[in-house]
Amino acid sequence: MADLNPAKLTIDGQDYELPVLKPTAGPNVLDIRKLYGQADVFTYDPGFTSTASCDSTITYIDGDKGELWYRGYPIEQLAEKSHYLEVCYLLLHGELPSKEQMVDFENRITRHTMVHEQMHYFFRGFRRDSHPMATMVGVVGAMSAFYHDSTDISDEWQREVAAMRLIAKLPTIAAMAYKYSIGQPFVYPRNDLDYAANFLHMCFAVPAEDYVVKPELARAMDRIFTLHADHEQNASTSTVRLAGSSGANPFACIAAGIACLWGPAHGGANQACLEMLKEIGTVDRIPEYIAKAKDKNDPFRLMGFGHRVYKNFDPRAKVMKESADEVLDLLGIENNETLKVAKELERIALEDEYFVSKKLYPNVDFYSGIILSAMGFPTSMFTPIFAMSRTVGWISQWKEMIGDPQNKIGRPRQLYVGSDRRDYVDVSSR
Ligand code: CMC
Repeated sequence: MADLNPAKLTIDGQDYELPVLKPTAGPNVLDIRKLYGQADVFTYDPGFTSTASCDSTITYIDGDKGELWYRGYPIEQLAEKSHYLEVCYLLLHGELPSKEQMVDFENRITRHTMVHEQMHYFFRGFRRDSHPMATMVGVVGAMSAFYHDSTDISDEWQREVAAMRLIAKLPTIAAMAYKYSIGQPFVYPRNDLDYAANFLHMCFAVPAEDYVVKPELARAMDRIFTLHADHEQNASTSTVRLAGSSGANPFACIAAGIACLWGPAHGGANQACLEMLKEIGTVDRIPEYIAKAKDKNDPFRLMGFGHRVYKNFDPRAKVMKESADEVLDLLGIENNETLKVAKELERIALEDEYFVSKKLYPNVDFYSGIILSAMGFPTSMFTPIFAMSRTVGWISQWKEMIGDPQNKIGRPRQLYVGSDRRDYVDVSSR
């Protein structure tokens, strides 16, 4: 990192110098690591809006320009020219694979797609109507019980095997969670199909008849996986890193990430968005919901709009919108009511002063639900699909952290505003 002039900070007449770090791209970063030791002060940043929690070489976002790069490659190029497993290799290893490396990687992933047969019994312990995300949090956490031969985080080979297992088995687990929730038999993975086609097959095939995956749908599915593969230090990724910083095993860490992703402000927004579109129901009711979103006294927000980092547009949303058009065209769904509501809501919000001034644009979740719904997925499967796509990002970030000699347990401090020290009062005197 290049040398920059240090920043100067004065507290109570005492001067302190803070090193300024220059990233490859993005704003410079003040290094406050020694501040507490030198000046006896903490920094205060709820929601981490001004805090870089780590250095990373994986993903870069420019929120003002609406750019997203994986290892330097713009998301639009990867979505158009690459495919999900190649993107997985890129995220995990830092470079695009050679032909041989790609074949080897695909073979290794394919050899890990089945889950331990005893896991089938584990699934049966869940209530029949469990949300697939609830099942996934439990089952992925339980992977450390089924695959304890890849939980030693100090062993590089075991870390690699854990990464392969997670990327390979998450689609199987997500599809099983779905099948279980609708009372259908589990469908085993098919290694003659590619990653996305295999997932569609495990979700929609039944033993009673043949199911042929449409290649265009598999391609759209693959693109959804690619668009969700990583997103730098978002809430769930930070959760995975924080859990991993204590030395927890990778399966436990990914389960923690899945739990965090479930919230409606994060990955749960795709389900919440489609439910909102259905609740609005018809185009004439949109103004009522726009008014609710703008009302400070109403907690309602337009789901699928706004982003902490993107203040221009979400580049994933652009690609997703094109994909949505293609899929709906392919399936002959031209203008169903939900789609009409979505299009009109987008049009009105993009012109409305409230949304324009606050830079609230449609995010990736606005369109993904429309595609997934057209493909036949119920809303409860939207967030599990996000979780399985993001697993490669989580595991890449986890591996980067474990391999970093500077890694130490994440331990934020606080601004204490509770009661001052006081003495215990016996109950008879209270
Ligand atoms: N509808 C209406 N108003 C909104 C919305 C929205 N969707 N999002 C933000 N605002 C308003 C908010 O009320 C606030 O207004 P004011 O300044 O007057 O108090 C202002 O915009 C800034 O909002 P914020 O909550 O401080 O922004 P944030 O960066 O903390 O939140 C967000 C980002 C994504 C959580 C938020 O925009 C939101 O809740 N959006 C809806 C949920 C959603 O679609 N989430 C998916 C995000 S993309 C995928 C992912 O990360 O998983």
